[in-house]
Amino acid sequence: MEVIILPGSKEIGALAADSIESLIRAKPDAVIGLATGSSPLPIYDELARRHDGDGLNFSQVRGFALDEYVGLPVGHYESYREVIRREFTNRVDVAPENVHGPDGSTGDVPGACQDYEDAIAAAGGIDLQILGVGTNGHIGFNEPGSSLASRTRIKTLAEQTRQDNARFFDHLDQVPHHVVTQGLGTIMDARHVVLVAFGAGKADAVRDFVEGPVTASCPASVLQFHPRATIIIDEAAAAKLAGARTYRHAFANKPAWQGV
Ligand code: GLP
Repeated sequence: MEVIILPGSKEIGALAADSIESLIRAKPDAVIGLATGSSPLPIYDELARRHDGDGLNFSQVRGFALDEYVGLPVGHYESYREVIRREFTNRVDVAPENVHGPDGSTGDVPGACQDYEDAIAAAGGIDLQILGVGTNGHIGFNEPGSSLASRTRIKTLAEQTRQDNARFFDHLDQVPHHVVTQGLGTIMDARHVVLVAFGAGKADAVRDFVEGPVTASCPASVLQFHPRATIIIDEAAAAKLAGARTYRHAFANKPAWQGV
């Protein structure tokens, strides 16, 4: 696990975008795992800027969403399919047919989840998975208690998560109770994981998953087992890390050839 501490969200977005840009330049049809929530927005802003300003080409890129609400009507403004379209794919030249998401509106949820796993495998697996982290340590919608080996499936949201996400809806009652999410095992299969977090509200979750025990009680801690997990956070999110000095030292002395 590489922990990189930067001054703020703009720098975080730029460094994560560097990683995605170098992937796409080496592999134009790269498969990217797309997260929602507020944390990845600076990455999407920066990628859109590089598309407009530097001609960064996404025309062959394929995308797989991390998760989706169950029960929101197709096209709902807050469905993650719509959020990803609005915040990222519509702002660059990703072909709409190359963007996939788990289907939370079908009558056969287990079948749709298996189809999603099959689609990721058929695409050759995810090259780079973008992640945020919930205040309770969830990644995707893998709430505390999720199997560390889980695959795409339905989950019931923790009340903390519903309350955290109520800001995107008019009222807490409108936040669905159920979701479909890539499992922790699915996320662990990605060849590179880039998790971004900023703000003091994430400091406990960051401390727990970076330096605490690997446990289903803190789902993001499974990333300690990932061979290539890059954790990019701001000073506030890093405030409770005992090893912050070590992480800063390692990044400051990182060989340039390693890239992000
Ligand atoms: C949501 C999403 C996660 C996201 C997390 C944090 O519930 N399912 O993918 O990482 O919560 O959201 P935010 O980045 O807005 O803090």
